[in-house]
Amino acid sequence: MKISFAKAALPTEGALAVGILEGRVLTATAGQIDHKTGGLIARALAASRFEGKKDQTLLLLAPAGLTVQRLLLIGLGKPDSVDGLAAEAYGGTAVAQLQAAGDQLLTIAVDPIGGSPLAPAEFAAHAAAGARLRSYRFDKYRTKEKKEDKPSLKKVVLSLDESGEAKRRFARLDGIIDGVFMTRDLASEPANVIFPTSLAEQAKTLAEQGVDVEVLGEKQMRKLGMGALLGVGQGSARESQLVVMRWMGAEDQDAVPVAFVGKGVTFDSGGISIKPAGGMEDMKWDMGGSAVVIGLMKALALRNAKVNAVGIIGLVENMPSGTAQRPGDVVTTMSGQTVEVINTDAEGRLVLADAMWYTQDRFKPQVMIDLATLTGAIIISLGDHYAGLFCNDDGLADKLVAAGKGVGELLWRMPIDDPYDKQLKSDIADMKNVGGREGGSITAAMFLKRFVKDTKWAHLDIAGVTWAKKDGAVTPKGATAFGVRLLDRLVADNYEQK
Ligand code: BES
Ligand code: MN
Ligand code: ZN
Repeated sequence: MKISFAKAALPTEGALAVGILEGRVLTATAGQIDHKTGGLIARALAASRFEGKKDQTLLLLAPAGLTVQRLLLIGLGKPDSVDGLAAEAYGGTAVAQLQAAGDQLLTIAVDPIGGSPLAPAEFAAHAAAGARLRSYRFDKYRTKEKKEDKPSLKKVVLSLDESGEAKRRFARLDGIIDGVFMTRDLASEPANVIFPTSLAEQAKTLAEQGVDVEVLGEKQMRKLGMGALLGVGQGSARESQLVVMRWMGAEDQDAVPVAFVGKGVTFDSGGISIKPAGGMEDMKWDMGGSAVVIGLMKALALRNAKVNAVGIIGLVENMPSGTAQRPGDVVTTMSGQTVEVINTDAEGRLVLADAMWYTQDRFKPQVMIDLATLTGAIIISLGDHYAGLFCNDDGLADKLVAAGKGVGELLWRMPIDDPYDKQLKSDIADMKNVGGREGGSITAAMFLKRFVKDTKWAHLDIAGVTWAKKDGAVTPKGATAFGVRLLDRLVADNYEQK
């Protein structure tokens, strides 16, 4: 799907999307069409329950007096609520409704909206971003899809006077979306295709964007003493990997980096503490955190972010076998602390313990943010509307929450407090890897905290938001890439030299 920007003129073919404000107030283009067609829109509005509320749509086929095939009215809500996210929803809704309707061309009208905080160029850039984000499909394994079920749209044109300015603003968002799409692709792939070494190979392709990529194998990790990460991978036929990605975009090459750490369990069977069969296929998503870190590094590189950033991902496959770690095993982490592995299915924290220690040891970052599909408990707490945020610094937590609001990836702050830490007491080692059912996502975070030095740190438990069971405004059902846009925004707003 090609996206372009062109000076306003009513299109003569394909489909046309126009906005209507709440209270049935026509935007300029809608008014122009209404006039040209002798009141078509006014009559359609009068005959329907469409009021222009956000997310409402009304599709008119073969509209008399126009040569376009389809006219789609999209509710924009109240003028003062028309922000970047509303613009994205506008573009996303247009594509969702018309992607497979039969037209090859979709024109999305962009009009100035009095009372909106957005200028038309910014509105258009975000509408285009929403259109592209929503057009995502993972269909490489479908060999028998019928032509009529395939998307017909080839071209989306945002129509506005300030098209040059809109195009410039979209270019930046376009790079971020390339990162989002890479994350969605990687997370969608099945575990027979994406496993530690093949995921590391994918990360290496970021060299094309100027990201420096290093891969450590099991031998090197053993030397470093990463007994926790290696223990998780020891039951798998696939070799575990640790990938270090570096984007050095700051003018000062010695500027202290920001660090992102991702859980990359390419398949989580549970290991010897094996999971039930029902739904186990979902555990191919358990590398979602690492996929976000890869896509984020790509996004930062593509938009030439003026920041030094490191991305570290621990890649393992958690399998039961004759070589697998057993419940009760004691492993020694890179930090020197020992862990009694009560449950081999609480593996993500073991991987992160070593990946996070390595990150701090080597890079001494100004902040460290980890992402992990860490616990089922966070889904019980927050469902799929918010990701869990655990943070040892109020300033960082506020920045993350604000960045999330800005891009529509919401975070809810959870407690990390000493009483929960007691649940991790082991009879024979420094700690055990599970803390019981109560507060399961919090004890998981407390476990991670034991591997945080004197570093500003945030942990995002993204188990509930990494894949979507149904379509959203700009995310089709499936891999969401939750975190890429959020952390890109966090960097842009707080850690870049202006
Ligand atoms: N990858 C899972 C968490 C998960 C569960 C993510 C469901 C998405 C959907 C993690 O490794 C895990 O198995 N956690 C256990 C921890 C328990 C054994 C303490 C869980 O949440 O049940
Ligand atoms: Mn698990
Ligand atoms: Zn897991």
